Amino acid sequence: MSASTSPSPSPSLRERFARFFEVGTCVAGTLPASLGAEELALLEHHFAVLTPENCMKPAPAHPEPGRFEFSAPDALVRFAEARRMSVVGHCLCWHQQSPPWLFESGLGREAALQQLREHIHGVAGRYRGRLQGWDVVNEAIAEEGEYLRDTPALRAIGPDFVQRAFELAREADPGAQLYYNDYDIERPAKRQRTLRLLRELQASGVRVDGVGIQGHWILDQVPFDDIRAAIRDYAALGLTVMITELDIDVVPRASGADVAARAPDGSAPDPYREGCPEDVLARQAQQYARLFELFCDPSSRVSRVSFWGLHDGASWLNYWPSKRTNHPLLFDRRCRPKPAFQALVAGANDEEKS
Ligand code: XIL
Repeated sequence: MSASTSPSPSPSLRERFARFFEVGTCVAGTLPASLGAEELALLEHHFAVLTPENCMKPAPAHPEPGRFEFSAPDALVRFAEARRMSVVGHCLCWHQQSPPWLFESGLGREAALQQLREHIHGVAGRYRGRLQGWDVVNEAIAEEGEYLRDTPALRAIGPDFVQRAFELAREADPGAQLYYNDYDIERPAKRQRTLRLLRELQASGVRVDGVGIQGHWILDQVPFDDIRAAIRDYAALGLTVMITELDIDVVPRASGADVAARAPDGSAPDPYREGCPEDVLARQAQQYARLFELFCDPSSRVSRVSFWGLHDGASWLNYWPSKRTNHPLLFDRRCRPKPAFQALVAGANDEEKS
């Protein structure tokens, strides 16, 4: 009997790509209560690695000095352990969703470092030995012009805040992989600045294990050649490379993924409220397929590909940069596979036969 006649109505993404990399998604809210039955089934069938969409970020996890909110992160880690899924912590140091007191202006460098220590030890220390890795620093590279982004952490501590954050994370959870994570770092200029940061970290003796290319891309504008070159350049530093927040936005927007670039609701067109046109879904499928071909290239050293949302209805692109009805992922709002999913699993049986 050929493999194609075996009963496999919906091949599993995690199995389909297991030879190449792990497949993950972000999850929101307190698990498992935040998921409906279909969502839970989808999650368990397709995904091996979970990233908390918000609950481990500095502001939600550590709203006041010495006060931590661990109920959602604890539930997520327990949920994953019960299912033998891995968790990637996201994120220890970021200028967004960070409580104002952490790097308050006027705070001296030593006091700011002490607060960073309490934060990282408090959050990463709680899950010591239980997480696959941490996005230690998120989005520290400037969009253009200079080198590092002008942020409260940079102003309070100085440019070595990145190095210090990695050292503190290493102390707090020595077994976790430690990552630098950012968007648009496949683009040549931002890539050069990111390579500089990673080289400086390595030269200072700090161990960095990997780099996360977020992967918030836009339909018909996916920079395939830059992505290929960036994966090669980061891997050449000896780092593992991950695509950490993949989605393909189908509603036109300005490029980038700066969460501060929020626009008033109603200020931008919302053309696909009644559903996504077939030709758009077909182009999205082709572009996802091309991306995965590139990620599967044996020279690419991609170790994980995580989507930023389980299905279209759960995507942040429905409310950022303004309220829109978006269709950026592999499953629709009813958890049904879209053409993009079919394109990714197509050929799996042929390969198995060969
Ligand atoms: C987004 C979440 O998806 C939203 O729910 C939240 O309102 C804002 O942040 N880059 C990142 C993620 O590293 O943490 C962001 O997540 C998306 C852009």
